[in-house]
Amino acid sequence: MTDLKTTYLGLELKNPIIAGASNLVNNLDTLKRMEDAGAAAIVYKTLFEEQIQLERLEFDDELTEYQERNAEMISLFPDIEHAGPTEHLMNLRLAKEAVNIPVIASLNCVFTETWLEYAKRIQNTGVDAIELNFYAVPRDYRLDGKSIINQQNELLKALKQAIDIPVSIKLSPFYANVLNVVKQFDQNGCKGVVLFNRFLMPNIDIDYETYINHFSSSTTDENLLPLKFAGLLFGNIQGSICCNSGIHTGKDVIKMILGGADCVQIVSTLYANKISYIQVMLNELSEWMEKKSYHRLEDFKGKLSQKRVNDPFIYKRSQYIDILLKSSEIFKKYQVH
Ligand SMILES: Cc1cc2nc3c(=O)[nH]c(=O)nc-3n(C[C@H](O)[C@H](O)[C@H](O)COP(=O)(O)O)c2cc1C
Repeated sequence: MTDLKTTYLGLELKNPIIAGASNLVNNLDTLKRMEDAGAAAIVYKTLFEEQIQLERLEFDDELTEYQERNAEMISLFPDIEHAGPTEHLMNLRLAKEAVNIPVIASLNCVFTETWLEYAKRIQNTGVDAIELNFYAVPRDYRLDGKSIINQQNELLKALKQAIDIPVSIKLSPFYANVLNVVKQFDQNGCKGVVLFNRFLMPNIDIDYETYINHFSSSTTDENLLPLKFAGLLFGNIQGSICCNSGIHTGKDVIKMILGGADCVQIVSTLYANKISYIQVMLNELSEWMEKKSYHRLEDFKGKLSQKRVNDPFIYKRSQYIDILLKSSEIFKKYQVH
């Protein structure tokens, strides 16, 4: 009998599969189906301050559109305000009440004051943790990398003062030294990192010569990036390691744990293979563990991390050197002449 239990952000999870943030959580019935299929926790979709700001602007535009057309209409809509994050917070509370597994909120704000205000209000909904969604695309040439990292650390420290529930960070892979940044977050009280945020990139339609902003699901190749960094971080930070992006099958989950992950977040595979696929992935994990005579995740967690692997250079440049040495075999395989 295999024991799939793991710990994430100090929360005990019955297994390592978390349903990541997506629009699937909009529906309470889907949340319950995730729980029934075996999801160990759910990340609720992000509360974006920018979205609230946009909605507020549209709302104000709609309200003022017909005002002051004539003298009697000046006070047609007296002092009505957009409700801000209230609806999102109410849905978060309903999500928490709907399932018995941990619910993790996700937050992305622009201003420090809003980060703090929304985080406190999120905590009041009763959720188990908050994932800081550090999703920002740099646009300002004057802002250097160190300043951005300092701002994020100051924000993290302020949030830790403001709330009691565990805080995790879903971060970008595009730092000059991700390991250093994660270490700083870890030292400043971040209880876990999600490797990594998957940025949607605008594409170009060459026929219409226009930008297209379409959603594309991840491919399994994408999980090699979180796999590598889980392997590098394992044993070097206090907080939990959660891999995300391109984790589609039970085999992918096994790989992440061998690398050093405590758990994974999945989304694309839920869209492609339906919610019930969580159970298939869990079965695959259990069967593999039985075959290998592993009883608990701890028996193989981080077995292939940089700390534990026999060849310490596997995570370094040796991969390239290896490929260069074997280049004739590779060229033959792909029939390059
Ligand atoms: C429709 C959709 C909505 C998403 N919404 C959010 C969100 O609100 N917050 C967030 O952090 N990530 C969001 N994501 C990203 C996923 O949580 C996840 O990081 C990404 O899809 C990579 O995981 P995957 O390879 O399993 O799909 C969304 C993804 C999809 C497909």
